[in-house]
Amino acid sequence: MTGTGTYKRRKGDVMMKKRVLAEVTINKEIAPGIFDLWMEPTQGLEEINPGQFIGVYLRNENLLLPRPLSICEVNADRSALRLVYRRAGEGTHELSRRKPKDGLGYVPILGPLGNGFPLEKGEGKRALIIGGGIGIPPLVELSKRLKADRQIVLGYQNGQTAGFLQKDLEQFGDVHVATEDGSIGVCGNVMDLIRKENLQADIIYACGPMPMLKAVKEFAGERGIPAYISLEEHMACGVGVCLGCVVKTREVHPHTNVHNARICTDGPVFEAGEVEI
Ligand SMILES: Cc1cc2nc3c(=O)[nH]c(=O)nc-3n(C[C@H](O)[C@H](O)[C@H](O)COP(=O)(O)OP(=O)(O)OC[C@H]3O[C@@H](n4cnc5c(N)ncnc54)[C@H](O)[C@@H]3O)c2cc1C
Ligand code: FES
Repeated sequence: MTGTGTYKRRKGDVMMKKRVLAEVTINKEIAPGIFDLWMEPTQGLEEINPGQFIGVYLRNENLLLPRPLSICEVNADRSALRLVYRRAGEGTHELSRRKPKDGLGYVPILGPLGNGFPLEKGEGKRALIIGGGIGIPPLVELSKRLKADRQIVLGYQNGQTAGFLQKDLEQFGDVHVATEDGSIGVCGNVMDLIRKENLQADIIYACGPMPMLKAVKEFAGERGIPAYISLEEHMACGVGVCLGCVVKTREVHPHTNVHNARICTDGPVFEAGEVEI
C-alpha cells in the first residue's frame, strides 16, 4: 500500500513467511494487565517498518490462530524485538505467563507482517503522532525512525494504565497526555487535547481504537491533512488468505476488483481517506 490510492506490495513483503522461534528474554507487567516483552528470534528478521506486526503462536492447541501484535521496537541489528501487549483473552494470558529462560520461553512467531507507516511522507514535516491505549506500542519505533518535527499525543482511559510507554516516547518528541477520567494531563480524549492545545500538523500518524481513528479521519479531512491510520482490527490468518479482516475502500483493489482491502496484508496502515471506517 502506498497511500496514493493503489495497493502495491512493498519490497520484501511476501505472503509466505517462515515461522521462526523467538526466545523471550524479558516479560514484565508495566501497568495493570499491560506487559512489556523482548524476544530474540533464533533467525535474523528482514527489515522492519514501524507499524508492522508479528503473528504470535501459542501452545494451547485450542488457539490455532496466531495473535497479531505490533512491533513496538526493534534493536539496531534486528536481533531483538519488543512487544507491548494487553492481557485480553486466553492467548495473551498464555503469553504473559512465559518466563524468560525457563525453557518454555520460546515462542513461534511469523513476520514481520503488513505494510507499516510511510516514513518518507513525513520527512521534514510537522508530524502529529497520535496513540490511544493499546494502539500506542507501534508509535515507539515510528517516533524513533521518523525524521520530522514530532508532537506525540497519547490517550489513556484512566490513571491506572496511564503513562505506559510515555517515558520511551519522550525521547523522540513533545509528549501530550489525555486521560478520559482526567487523572493525568488533559481530561478527555486525544482529539479534545489536540483542539484544546491547538496542535498543528502537516501529517498525522495514528493507531488506537476505532472511534479514535474515526475522529482522527474526520479531523484530518476537515483540515486537509494527510493521515495514516493503523487499523488493529480482529484478524484470523494474518497473511491474506482467509479474508477475515477486510475493510471497505474508496479505490478498487487491483487484484480482486472490489472495494475491499485486507487489513493484514494491504494494511494495517492506510491513508485515512482510502478506507471507509
Ligand atoms: C495489526 C494488529 C496489531 C495489534 N497490536 C497489538 C499490540 O501491540 N498490543 C496489544 O495488546 N494488542 C494488539 N492487537 C490486538 C491483539 O491482537 C488482541 O488483543 C489479541 O489477539 C487477543 O488475543 P487473546 O487470545 O488474548 O484474546 P481473545 O480471546 O482472542 O479475545 C479477547 C478479547 O479481546 C478482543 N479482541 C481480540 N482481538 C482484538 C482486536 N484486534 N482489537 C480489539 N479487540 C480484540 C476479543 O473480541 C475479546 O473480547 C493488535 C491487533 C492487530 C490486528
Ligand atoms: S486475517 Fe486472513 S486475510 Fe487478513
